[in-house]
This record gives sequence, structure tokens and C-alpha cells, in this order.
Amino acid sequence: MNRFPLEAIENASVDELRALQFKRLQQTLNHAYANSPVYRRKFDAAGVHPDDCSSLADLAKFPFTTKHDLREAYPFGMLAVPREQCVRIHASSGTTGKPTVVGYTRNDIETWSAVMARSIRAAGARPGDMVHVSYGYGLFTGGLGAHYGAEKLGLTVVPFGGGQTERQVQLITDFRPDIIMVTPSYMLAIADEMERQGMDPRECSLRLGIFGAEPWTNDMRQKIEQRLGLDAVDIYGLSEVMGPGVANECIETKDGPTIWEDHFYPEIVDPETGAPVADGELGELVFTSLTKEALPVIRYRTRDLTRLLPGTARTMRRMEKITGRSDDMMIVRGVNVFPTQIEELILRQPVLAPHYQCILTREGPLDELTVAVEAGAGLDHEHADVRSAAERLAYEIKVYIGTSARIELRPVGGIERSMGKARRVVDQRKL
Ligand code: DLL
Repeated sequence: MNRFPLEAIENASVDELRALQFKRLQQTLNHAYANSPVYRRKFDAAGVHPDDCSSLADLAKFPFTTKHDLREAYPFGMLAVPREQCVRIHASSGTTGKPTVVGYTRNDIETWSAVMARSIRAAGARPGDMVHVSYGYGLFTGGLGAHYGAEKLGLTVVPFGGGQTERQVQLITDFRPDIIMVTPSYMLAIADEMERQGMDPRECSLRLGIFGAEPWTNDMRQKIEQRLGLDAVDIYGLSEVMGPGVANECIETKDGPTIWEDHFYPEIVDPETGAPVADGELGELVFTSLTKEALPVIRYRTRDLTRLLPGTARTMRRMEKITGRSDDMMIVRGVNVFPTQIEELILRQPVLAPHYQCILTREGPLDELTVAVEAGAGLDHEHADVRSAAERLAYEIKVYIGTSARIELRPVGGIERSMGKARRVVDQRKL
């Protein structure tokens, strides 16, 4: 079968990789200190200088960067190059306050396109493939990131963007793309629409889905693969560090995204104390960019929880599929609960649909968790089988997660569909 060749660095020895990382780390620290007033101030305040970095482990001496730093510097205060040298700006809206603004030089766009091309290739793209992009275009990095990477690889790109689900289905039917790039939750909405139009999603042309931008479980992967008859591969990234393509799963192993470590240096830290933890331990993912010009990030705290795992399909390390963000963690009567844990249990009940939301309310002093979930396609939510599945779900949440939850069954379409990232937690306690 015709395949794209790998880049040499993807199979380089660990020693070669570490040497390259160290050289690039020194360059990045120097660039940030010399050209970004924000970093100069932060390093000075912490009493560190780029010269204090004489090994990769020394990175731990340097202060963290947070979303708060980017917000404070709104809009362009974090740039380490004059704004005129940026050829692109993106921004992420976030839930509160000002958006986080990021900028890219021409070289940054080139690097980003290269890691995205590498990601799409690792996911299983082949020469001649057509890619349907349903990530949103615009300030969100998903659409343009996917677009530039697929184009760089020489694939045929259909830049659809999010929304207009009926037309998405029509174009997928007519153009017969091989690959789709979309959030996993919106993929399900597209599959629902295919069925509504009387199509069998398994009959569609798609061979490969490159899904990310939100947490999704391995059970969700299985569900999507079975329903659409394709390979579902995980893509990870965030605007502050670059956009999509910081890490991507390799199709031959599907065992968590491989981090493109020649450009993004990962650490895991204890989310409470900030102390680095060993590979294999669970904690908060932190990234230092190694090649960025416009907006170098030093020890950026992603708030994503995962662990670093040894390389398998590549020499570079992997991250475990993300369990959740510390912001999404619900504390229900003292028990920590992630939406992905609920997702896993919902997917065990075949008569329930994987469309769900966790709603938090407060009754007197106590937090209440309601899991709103839809009946499976073609089933009435009052149906006895659906009701008993809901009872089993409540029981399993109690047993496996350790908290009580009320299950609210909704008819098909009763949970809002998002065109991008699904909203899994609705916190009504603050109202
Ligand atoms: O979501 C970039 C992206 C676009 C990634 C398209 C993949 C595909 P932001 O809007 O800045 O950027 O959101 C970044 O989304 O910190 C994670 O919490 C979450 N996230 C992204 N990819 C994954 C994934 C884009 N594969 C935030 N699994 C990150 C779990 C993900 N969470």
C-alpha cells in the first residue's frame, strides 16, 4: 500500500532527541528572556536566568506560565516579536473574561503545518486521500490548523467548518472523502443526521476520523468506530501551545497521542504543589515550546490531566488519553467526578445514546448531580428497557464512581448538540 514516509526525527534515538530538545530549550529560554518583557519579569522575579539551564531537568527551576498570564497581557503583550511580524492571530474564547490571544510568525505557521501534516500522516492518511474538515474555521485553531496540515501533506481538503449538519451529510455523500476531522461529539451528530436521512453511516466513504478538541473515552472510540465503520484516532492540542497537532495517536497502536517532542517539551506536575512527577504518574500536563517564535511558552500549565508513557510506534513519548481537565472536575459531596467517567458507564448501556450532560444543582447544603441522557435512536425514553438501563446506570455510578446521581431520561434530540466542543457540565449551583 502506498504510504507517506516518516521524518527522520520520528525514529531518532532517545539520545538524539534529548540533545535536540536541550539545544532548542536553551534557544527558547534565551529568546523569551531577551524579547518578551513578561518572561523577563517572571524570570527575574523567580531569580533565574537562561544560563541556569544546563540540562533538561533544569527546566523545573523556571516559573510556570498560566492562562492568567496571557489574559493579563491581553491582547498582544505576550508576543516576543513585533506584532508586524505575525502573519496570523487566533484566540480562544474560554468560559469567562477576555479571550486568550495567540500569534504566529510565518515560520510558526510553517512549523504548525508540519506537525499537523505529521499528525494526519500518523493517523493513517494515505497519498490521494480527501479530507473533510468540520472543525470550526476562524479564531478557533481547529479548522485552519487541520486545513494547513492536510494541504501540506498534499491531500484534497474540503474546508467545510462546523454547522449545517444536513449539508455536511450531503457533501460527504457526494464528494466521498476518505478522512473526516471533527470533534467526536459532532461526529455523533453527523451520524444521527445520516440516519435521519435514511442512510447507514457504515456505508459512507469515510475510512478514518481524526477526533479531538475535547475529552473522549476509549469506549466512545469503539462506539464511533462501530457506528461509522472507520478508524477513530485521537488528536490533541491547545491554542496557547500551538493549536491542534501538539500530539497525535498513531493508527498502528491507537494507544494515546504521541507527543511531537521535538517541538513541544512535556512535563507532568502535581496540580496542587506544582512539583514535577515521574513518567507514568498522573498529574497536570505542562508544555514548553521548543521552536516557537511569536509566542514562546515556558512551562505552560494546560490544566489537562494525564500521564506520560513510553514511546511505542515512535521513539517520542505518548500521553495517556486525557481523563479530563481540572476545570471540568465536579466535586459532588466530596467525591471527584469527571464527565468521562460518566461517559464510560453510559456507553455500557446499549439502549442509551452517547449524548449526555452532567447538571449540578444545590439542594440546601448538598450538591446534587443529575445526568441527563438520551434514549438510543428509535427508542422512546419512557420505554421499559430504557428505564431499566437508567436504573442500572445510577447503580453503576454509585458503585464505580462512589456518588449518587439522578438520571434524567430525555427523548432523542433532548440534549443540545454542539457544532464543536460539547458542553458536558452545566453548573447551576452558582445561579
Ligand atoms: O481545541 C485545539 C484542537 C483543535 C485540538 C482540534 C484538537 C483538534 P483550544 O480551544 O485551545 O484548542 O482547547 C484546548 O481542549 O487544553 C484540552 O482540554 C482540550 N483538548 C484538545 N484536544 C483534546 C483531546 C483546541 N484530544 C483544550 N482530548 C485542551 C481531550 C482535548 N481534550
